[in-house]
Amino acid sequence: MKTAKTKALLLANIGQLVTLRAASGVSGPRRGVQLNELAIVEDGAVLCLGGNIVSVGTTKDALGDPWIRKQRKRITEIDCTGKVVIPGFVDSHTHPVFVRPRLVDFEKRIEGASYEQIAAEGGGIRSSLEGVRNSAKAVLKQKVLAVLRDMAAHGSTTVEAKSGYGLTLESELKSLESIREAASLWPGTVVSTLLGAHVVPKEFQGRSQNYVEIVCREMIPRAARRNLAQFVDVFCDKGAFTPEETEQIFAAADEHKVPVRAHMGQLSETALEPFFRFNPVSFDHMDHVSDVDVTQLAKLDTVATLVPGANYFLGLKKYPNARRLIDAGVPVALATDYNPGTSPTVSMPMAMSLACTQLRMTPAEAICAATINGAWALRLADRKGSIEPGKDADLAVFDVQDYREIPYWYGTNRCQTTVLNGIVTTRE
Ligand code: NIG
Ligand code: FE
Repeated sequence: MKTAKTKALLLANIGQLVTLRAASGVSGPRRGVQLNELAIVEDGAVLCLGGNIVSVGTTKDALGDPWIRKQRKRITEIDCTGKVVIPGFVDSHTHPVFVRPRLVDFEKRIEGASYEQIAAEGGGIRSSLEGVRNSAKAVLKQKVLAVLRDMAAHGSTTVEAKSGYGLTLESELKSLESIREAASLWPGTVVSTLLGAHVVPKEFQGRSQNYVEIVCREMIPRAARRNLAQFVDVFCDKGAFTPEETEQIFAAADEHKVPVRAHMGQLSETALEPFFRFNPVSFDHMDHVSDVDVTQLAKLDTVATLVPGANYFLGLKKYPNARRLIDAGVPVALATDYNPGTSPTVSMPMAMSLACTQLRMTPAEAICAATINGAWALRLADRKGSIEPGKDADLAVFDVQDYREIPYWYGTNRCQTTVLNGIVTTRE
């Protein structure tokens, strides 16, 4: 079911309306105890008009409002009795432009091989390149669109989408174009990221500097000129790009006024200090990070985006130390890291469940990290991530009575209705 964007929409009788409205005096991404503050309204109501939220409060107040009383027949109403409504998830880290699952890698890992070993033997990211290079843009677009729809069915309304499985100028631009075209057919919000620096492709083996030059001198300028990427990302780790190469790529992005983010500390620790001058919006993974850097991050608005789906799917015993980050005051976000190698899931509730059981985040912290802090990690917090008048009408209705059930019922989808920029989609 879809309703027109301009028609007024009222969600009423909401058992728990999780607004995440910032407490007075709170600005910037949520940190420390702020991550537990959900600002829940019981028996709540939300009125949306023209794709925006216009009022948030109790059902009683909404039904007593003279404008709503007068317009009632013209308003589309969704009865949310016994349900929980939260801001639509902001999935701030995904890699949807690929063609095939990596089932051989999956089986090799079950037999005991590590992610790094598989990559060194020709599997891993490099084995996804051929599919993207040889596919028409229309094929990639359909793949991305199907993923976006699946994500929306699980409650996501804003999605960051990276290129990174082409790794030639032409196929990276094709990937970004496929994201843009898929986004134009999806009612939610898509933020695209150029990840030309995912790994050094085989044909540049032993000449990584030549490849970095292509990223800096060709990919970034072209993507920036055509406004195809809102961010530039780098996989900075052993087997991928060095800190020096990452700095070089960040400098090129800076030159073209494209903000940066990075895969950091997934496999090994990298000192973060040299990157702070680029004001990165987010460091993602963060399994390995020093005490000195944790202290520094607590003073910045750079978000630490945790992606526990990757640890789960790689069968790792260790997960990022969320408690250490949160207790130190680092703003933490959660994302799926949807990709064919380490995290083939579209489900933010699954990422939240892992955050609770493996990272020992509270359900409230997990919701904050999956919504408002994801919005901060995309520089969209003025429009996304909380249910407040003036923000975009992005909502997820869950068929549960208590918000803690969202991460509790793992492996099953309890999201019933998603509102994306005012457009309602309900699961059959
Ligand atoms: O976030 N670490 C780099 N990128 C992805 C994995 C990509 C892949 O294996 O295809 C990640 O885990
Ligand atoms: Fe990733």
